[in-house]
Amino acid sequence: MQAIVFDGVSFFYKPSEENELPKLILNDLSLEVEKGAFIALLGKNGSGKSTCAKLINGLLTPTSGTVSVFGLPLSGENTDLFEIRSKVGMVFQNPDNQQIASIVEDDIAFGPENLGVPREEIGRRIDYALKVTDMEKFRYSQVARLSGGQKQRIAIAGALALNPEILILDESTSMLDPKGRREVTEVARNLNREKGMTVIDITHYMDEAAEADEIYVLDDGKLRKKGDPSEIFSDEEMLAETGLELPRASKLAKELRLQGLPLKKGILSKEELLEELCVSLRIK
Ligand SMILES: Nc1ncnc2c1ncn2[C@@H]1O[C@H](COP(=O)(O)OP(=O)(O)O)[C@@H](O)[C@H]1O
Ligand SMILES: [Mg+2]
Repeated sequence: MQAIVFDGVSFFYKPSEENELPKLILNDLSLEVEKGAFIALLGKNGSGKSTCAKLINGLLTPTSGTVSVFGLPLSGENTDLFEIRSKVGMVFQNPDNQQIASIVEDDIAFGPENLGVPREEIGRRIDYALKVTDMEKFRYSQVARLSGGQKQRIAIAGALALNPEILILDESTSMLDPKGRREVTEVARNLNREKGMTVIDITHYMDEAAEADEIYVLDDGKLRKKGDPSEIFSDEEMLAETGLELPRASKLAKELRLQGLPLKKGILSKEELLEELCVSLRIK
């Protein structure tokens, strides 16, 4: 089953000045994301990643083409945008401007309260969201006193309280330190593995992208390439043209190869690199 389908989607924002021509942000973009997949969406600044995210949860509608989520088209008559928005949880970049209430549990309750979810059910959803994000002991804490990583986990918890089927992280780790980044990606990973949540991770961290099932590279509003991490990170020409780097372990392996160490190609993680180094240096 497809969680998300873009079929020939083009999009432009209305120009702010009358004499300005509209700029095509997405250009006849078609893509599909399987239910339960963990996808990384990569591309330079301005390539259209956030626009895609907003099309997926119905914040924007395509200028032409269609976007469907679990088989439901997001535009046209009879579209229940309310239902679709609650299917797609979004977590944004800045941990400091996604909170609404000052106490953690009130913040998580805000979304379902607005949808008129019954009290008892809200309580259950808060329990669940705090458990999954490993934030149970912060239930009565002040959001403002949490670390960046913890705030983003609360933002994820808030999204989970709406029972979404898709979670989109739009550069949600970019303002965090390495520890916070790990906390947030781990929560997303576990949700994907254990609960079958479809995750779209928009990120500038190639180490993070290397852990995705599949990577989609956007370039100038078009899908430039789609493939598993090893396919993507072995296409050096495409990486250079779309302004993407290698994951750190791949970079280091490349350097070591240049220094004469015979390491296999396609190393993506530090674990693989270590393994290969041991083989190469005959360390048992
Ligand atoms: N509200 C807006 N009005 C006009 N242009 C916009 C608006 N939001 C984004 N853009 C433009 O759309 C393009 C794609 O933006 P975006 O989807 O945010 O890219 P990304 O998330 O990949 O950095 C950029 O050129 C950006 O300047
Ligand atoms: Mg963006």
